[in-house]
Amino acid sequence: MTTLDSELLDRLEALRTKYAASGQSLIDFLDGLLEADYITYWDYIRLDSLLSLQQPRTPHHDEPIFIMYHQITELYFKLVLHELDAAVAAPMPGTANWTPAHTEALTEHVRRCTRYFGALENSFAVMTDGMNREQFLRFRMALIPASGFQSGQYRMIEMALARLNELVHLDVRADYADVHDPLALLDKIYWRGGATIAATGEKTLTLKQFESKYAKEFAERAVALSGQTVSDRARILEEQGGMTDELRHALRELDAQVNVRWPMQHLKTAGRYLAKQPSDTRATGGTNWPKYLPPKFQLRIAFPFLWTDAEREAWGTSS
Ligand code: HEM
Repeated sequence: MTTLDSELLDRLEALRTKYAASGQSLIDFLDGLLEADYITYWDYIRLDSLLSLQQPRTPHHDEPIFIMYHQITELYFKLVLHELDAAVAAPMPGTANWTPAHTEALTEHVRRCTRYFGALENSFAVMTDGMNREQFLRFRMALIPASGFQSGQYRMIEMALARLNELVHLDVRADYADVHDPLALLDKIYWRGGATIAATGEKTLTLKQFESKYAKEFAERAVALSGQTVSDRARILEEQGGMTDELRHALRELDAQVNVRWPMQHLKTAGRYLAKQPSDTRATGGTNWPKYLPPKFQLRIAFPFLWTDAEREAWGTSS
């Protein structure tokens, strides 16, 4: 018997055991293999579906750029959530199941998230410089009240990273510092305030749409993540002496990337297209964006305990 034969027999035996465990016959599966066609690149990544998802609402040449870059961003957000879902599913630090290997795994999840947001920051020029302003100002009118404000994945990323107490609107954040009820905190989250018309207290249509689609999912996530966020984990490690230099550095990088650098690029883009517009042509989502978007006004910090007082006070003033 040649080496190849014995390797083959080993694999067949392993496959037989695998299928027998679920009451299946190996022969049937081998017959299936004989019938099956080879997989192709385009089927594997569902290319035809992917490339059919761009449906502009106007004939302007630059609208597909706007659509595709949002889609690219949402795919990156999905990659980030893929890492964060795994990070928050791990055992909690401080419990018997937590091992140093979990600290390393958390560090790697965090680094990957930073890398994805870094790619988005570095490619944002596709928006900032890559569209004709006049065309943008025209096709955006066909999109009202849709806005990136309604990105559910962006909010889910924030909720997995930060404790909800840190996401409460700055005006009342201090009052909610010791509140533990996730739904009470969610009710005061910063973006609700940002999309409410101050004079009347009425929600913008953008916010009403957003809540009708995501309120239930956000509430479920808020409850499930209470005490489990990346921030809760980092705080326990910091307090119990389990924090490593690598993880601390990785967490600070992620905080700066998600809560300052990406928002600054985004703000710069909003400035290029929307500044000096008559006051009646507001952002498609209807926020008072020059007051709402700057990181220094929102002061969202996922891991405040990893920054000095001076760093927190200067938040969003440089990247
Ligand atoms: C020309 C390009 C863009 C402009 C002019 C722009 C403008 C704005 C404005 C003015 C807002 C405030 C909400 C509103 O009133 O509509 C906003 C929010 C937002 N946009 Fe964009 N945006 C652009 C591209 C993008 C892209 C490519 C994304 C990626 C998904 C995005 C994601 C978001 C998110 C997540 C928010 C909510 C931010 C927060 O609540 O802090 N935007 N955008």
